[in-house]
Amino acid sequence: MSLDTISELPALRARIGEWKRAGLRIGFVPTMGNLHAGHHSLVKIARERADRVVASVFVNPTQFGPNEDFARYPRTPEADAEGLREAGCDLLWLPSVETMYPYGAANAVHMRVPGITDVLDGAHRPGHFDGVATVVSRLFNQVQPDVAAFGRKDYQQLAVIRYLVRDLAFPIELLPAPIVREDDGLAMSSRNQYLSPQERATAPVIHRTLLAMQEAAAAGTARAAVETDAGAALTEAGLVVDYAVVRRPDLTEPLDGEGGDRVALIAARLGKTRLIDNLEFSIPR
Ligand code: PAF
Repeated sequence: MSLDTISELPALRARIGEWKRAGLRIGFVPTMGNLHAGHHSLVKIARERADRVVASVFVNPTQFGPNEDFARYPRTPEADAEGLREAGCDLLWLPSVETMYPYGAANAVHMRVPGITDVLDGAHRPGHFDGVATVVSRLFNQVQPDVAAFGRKDYQQLAVIRYLVRDLAFPIELLPAPIVREDDGLAMSSRNQYLSPQERATAPVIHRTLLAMQEAAAAGTARAAVETDAGAALTEAGLVVDYAVVRRPDLTEPLDGEGGDRVALIAARLGKTRLIDNLEFSIPR
């Protein structure tokens, strides 16, 4: 049996309305397609908290920079639908660019989340999080979910969406989902398939470096040294590092000797592929 798929807004509204009138809770998993086990885990998490699960597949042009991989972003619609169905998804929302941006992407009303988008990926990918906030707000309005699952791998994206939900009072509970990793530690990502066999063999150095950052930070090594050593390990392995940092959960810079929750974050390019990953841990107070 194939997965029920809707591409027109009136049909989506009718279906969601039917479910809501029947008192059913709606779970939502927004994606850009090319789905892997990490996405399927989001469907399962949403399924635990909702009676019906909607997943969207939309490669969102407004979150890609001019020199990024929008055109070559992998599109695998049949495999996506099959994987979603097997994971327990009830409905695939597959809007066109015209449905998502009726005035065209260039003339869309844009969202901008301040502060948290100025650093890290926000600084390296100008406009990226504005595009994410813009499309996620639209998706929330279209699907009107009760709960929505987002992966912790996109740590900063999750922080942006938390801010958006609170600031705009979307009546939606966010379900942050654990990072799903390959056996060698590489975080699952649609972009992993761009890697050549040699790059793929190198890529787990990112996770190993995060573990080393956690160990060094927990042992009391000064943050600057932790970050410098991490950058050096990644460069040595052949990656071009955008950042390798330790931050507080709100992405501000912790002081040396300060205890509390931490996240180590890495963004680095391996050949033409930009990979991100992170590791959350605590330093005893
Ligand atoms: O994480 C993603 O796949 C995308 O950024 C999202 C949240 C679906 C918005 O396009």
